[in-house]
Amino acid sequence: MPRQLVIAIDGPAASGKSTTARLVAERLGYLYIDTGAMYRAMGLKARRLGIPLADLAAVAAMAERTEVRQQQVPGGVATFLDGEDVSAAIRSPEISQAASDISTISAVRRRLVALQQAMGRSGGVVMEGRDIGTVVFPDAEVKVYMEASLAERARRRGSELSARGIAARADELESQIAARDRQDSGRHDSPLARAPGAVVIDTTGMSIAQQVERVAALAAAAKERSS
Ligand code: DC
Repeated sequence: MPRQLVIAIDGPAASGKSTTARLVAERLGYLYIDTGAMYRAMGLKARRLGIPLADLAAVAAMAERTEVRQQQVPGGVATFLDGEDVSAAIRSPEISQAASDISTISAVRRRLVALQQAMGRSGGVVMEGRDIGTVVFPDAEVKVYMEASLAERARRRGSELSARGIAARADELESQIAARDRQDSGRHDSPLARAPGAVVIDTTGMSIAQQVERVAALAAAAKERSS
């Protein structure tokens, strides 16, 4: 059997990565790994324990002792923090910011990157995040960088939140997302960036079905090349 691919999808918040990655994984029978959820789980734990992020030694010690696991469930993936299912708890705007903040700390990145590399070692994964094509799997057979306009991303995040009964103003979402973009792209360790060789997909105005088709076509071409 030919080796199964690693498909790396990076891009800023709400660019369409998660839904596309999940559906491509479903189509190919691959594992879907949401690395953002892993940073969210770390951010949640630090907040619950009241660990200040300025205390780098305490954050590093916490990260070393923390188990973050993803488990495939019908329709997506569940995230477990030290054995507790935190899939819903990590989806608030406060935890979005906490995740972005804690993701600037190298000890946290080292711990999560090691877990991610272990999950993708045998291929057969669609992994999405900010540094998958640049750091976690720089040799991935398929690398995609998804982007979309800020207004479109805020609109998408607004509908996701409202589907879960959380009201949010469009202008506030825009400024939260823009602040996160700045922090994720500007940080010193593994900033959000297009990986060399990544195919850029601007999803503004694209349907989810079109995004999935595009990535699935790249995967099919990569499979063809490797066989
Ligand atoms: O994809 P997301 O919005 O759930 O990610 C939350 C935060 O986690 C994001 O603002 C930056 C960080 N992150 C990261 O630094 N590296 C990744 N591979 C994934 C997410």
